[in-house]
Amino acid sequence: MKIQEHVALAPFTTFGIGGPARWFVEAAKESDILDAVSWARERSLPLFVLGGGSNLLVSDTGFAGLVLRVALKGVLAEENGGFREFRVAAGEDWDGFVQRAVAESCSGIECLAGIPGTVGGTPVQNVGAYGQEVSETIQRLRVLDLETLRFHEMPVEGCGFAYRSSVFNSSATGRYLVVRVDYRLTPGGPANLRYADLQKLFPAGSQPGLTEVAATVRRIRQSKGMLLVDGDEDCRSAGSFFKNPIVSAERFAALAARLGEEPPHYPAGESQVKLPAAWLIEQAGFPKGFRIGRVGISSRHTLALVNRGGAMAAEMLALRDVIVAGVEGKFGVALRMEPVLVGF
Ligand code: EPU
Repeated sequence: MKIQEHVALAPFTTFGIGGPARWFVEAAKESDILDAVSWARERSLPLFVLGGGSNLLVSDTGFAGLVLRVALKGVLAEENGGFREFRVAAGEDWDGFVQRAVAESCSGIECLAGIPGTVGGTPVQNVGAYGQEVSETIQRLRVLDLETLRFHEMPVEGCGFAYRSSVFNSSATGRYLVVRVDYRLTPGGPANLRYADLQKLFPAGSQPGLTEVAATVRRIRQSKGMLLVDGDEDCRSAGSFFKNPIVSAERFAALAARLGEEPPHYPAGESQVKLPAAWLIEQAGFPKGFRIGRVGISSRHTLALVNRGGAMAAEMLALRDVIVAGVEGKFGVALRMEPVLVGF
């Protein structure tokens, strides 16, 4: 285990923003993780666990404690009652795993192609896109409980999955470190075409294969600047910066009455409605390509805030505040940011 000092964090994030980690270590095995955690505890240093850095905004002053980068690698596949279970180490690249599953004709995560980040990050915010969420295929996790310093398995029932949330980013934030995620996929299963914007790209009634669906998802993501492509300035972001707000059916009806028409919306469980944050933002007067200095809204998707080059975290948060206030003022709806703040 090699502990480094003053390591710039910006290159470890898709935003490309943020100051240095006072201390930094890469853990390639479970014993490295234990050593690093103990090392930080002995010095009473705060710990931050870094995965793929695709959903993070690091402060301009960086992080004053130990940043532990999870670099555990390896995938084990096992047949189990008609399913194939993949036990995937937290440091594996998520999209690499999706490509492998698709190549092996295993369905369940094909719509999650092209999402940047590592496997260990996927349960934390219950990564989802184009009609799938990882909570549908996760069987169990292997975690380190930072209270007891013991590794154990956690069944999916313990994860508290909901839209963009889990116990790991709500009730138990900071308690567990994910070291492995087990996904249960279906060999020979059909591709998921639940998402209307995906479905309409295929002829009605057709049943495209997993490879085609994953490739199409990648193309859609790229068209929205949501695929990491060298030289594509719109992808210097953390994906969606805001969650889509969920409001009660009553509040939705009141909003529709006030506006004189129904805004776009999707069902979100009993008597609840999900509103597209991107639509709210545009209607509140912030179009694609909107800019304040070195930060702005992606020119291809309103939900992504983008570092236009050399931006500071403070500028990003100032832009966030302007947008949140604008949407609140026009619709009375509070937007919540999706990326995790580090070092604030
Ligand atoms: N819309 C706009 N302007 C835009 C984009 C979208 O007004 O520039 C409105 C339209 O009404 C559109 C609706 O928003 O019909 C939905 O748009 P889209 O299908 O692009 O999805 P999204 O709600 O903006 C969510 C996820 C994405 C995920 C896509 C596809 C959240 C916060 N975001 O975006 O996830 O890829 O659906 O499933 O739930 C991420 O979390 O980082 C992320 C990229």
